[in-house]
Amino acid sequence: MLFPRAILKPRLKRRVFNGHPWVYDNEIDTFPECEDGSLVDLFTSSGQFVGRGYYNSRSTISIRLLTRKYENIDEDFFVRKIQKAFALRSKYSETSAYRLIFGESDGLPGLVVDRYSNYFVMQISTLGMSLFRESILSALIKLFNPKGIYEKSEGAFLKLEGIPQVSEWLYGSGPTLIPFKMNDIQFLADLMGQKTGFFLDQRCNARFLSRFASEKRVLDVFSYTGNFALHLLKGGAHHATLLDQSERALEVAKEVSRLNGLPDKISVIKGNAFDFLRNLNPGDYDLIIIDPPALVKNAKYTEKAIAAYKELNLRAIRALKEGLLATSSCTQAIREDAWLGSIHRAFNDSKKIGLQLFSGSQPFDHPVSSAVFETNYLKFRAFYIRKISDI
Ligand SMILES: C[S@@+](CC[C@H](N)C(=O)[O-])C[C@H]1O[C@@H](n2cnc3c(N)ncnc32)[C@H](O)[C@@H]1O
Repeated sequence: MLFPRAILKPRLKRRVFNGHPWVYDNEIDTFPECEDGSLVDLFTSSGQFVGRGYYNSRSTISIRLLTRKYENIDEDFFVRKIQKAFALRSKYSETSAYRLIFGESDGLPGLVVDRYSNYFVMQISTLGMSLFRESILSALIKLFNPKGIYEKSEGAFLKLEGIPQVSEWLYGSGPTLIPFKMNDIQFLADLMGQKTGFFLDQRCNARFLSRFASEKRVLDVFSYTGNFALHLLKGGAHHATLLDQSERALEVAKEVSRLNGLPDKISVIKGNAFDFLRNLNPGDYDLIIIDPPALVKNAKYTEKAIAAYKELNLRAIRALKEGLLATSSCTQAIREDAWLGSIHRAFNDSKKIGLQLFSGSQPFDHPVSSAVFETNYLKFRAFYIRKISDI
């Protein structure tokens, strides 16, 4: 079957040919004649077939390619793509919870699927992908026979794509707090919480950090439901204080601590991280984690966000007499060197030094694609903090 044709401008950069699935509106010479969300075939100006994808005139990313072949985009297509993605993930059996589909990295732009034990939570972020909802659903059922599949497609950006929010069980059913085990810890993915319910991307960093936990008084800033805190308590921390602005996240964290037999080991504080960090006394904690949400979306406006990273880290460094700072950034628009620069400036202003013990990023189930730099977003460092006079 053939689809409406889109033709690229001549003499384009190699990005699309090197594997990037996005085609911007200013790269297209002849636009396809079709409705938004439709499948289109993309050609070079000299008539060479580039690939097949979906079109949306409302987005600056006019086309997102799904394949470089003349193949049908149907249930079988999704079965093949999901099988490929699963084959990569199944090489590692460290957890029953992982990201099964990471959008562009798995050749499925606009789709994320996280697995929590035998429940799947999917997020669709584009009109084109939303039109394949039924095929995705059938493919997941065929491959995994799950107990339930929940769609949690939420956020203001959906309006720009022209699609409604969806927050419901599409297949089977399950609890709002989905239990799953990870690194020998019982966790809960909250379907009324953020993203797909849990931040699976930090689990390897949290696990690494737990080696340094013994007897530490921990402060988990931007804790959400306590991923870091629970890893550290399991690692032998004395106590963990969780700070987040979301009351619900903190309530779930308390439930998670009960499930793990650690209810007396945590305290929760609802508040603003920036204010809270400013008012700490040096030495109140031995280990501080800073894991803020993405601070900016657009690479043009990163200056303020870099200043905010410096301020957050400076306040945490000042609050540590000697101890550990674990700090992170999930802002895709900020490059690693710029983020690290902000931390180094914080060290200089605090008259302390940080010995870098660990450098982390995304786990294997959030693979960074060499062709799509936008898939690289998570940055993580653990520093041992000392006064310059104590080196
Ligand atoms: C990236 S998530 C943290 C994930 C968490 N560390 C984990 O591993 O599960 C960011 C968290 O920061 C919280 N948050 C956002 N702005 C905040 C602020 N100004 N003060 C305190 N918490 C904030 C959000 O509610 C969210 O739970």
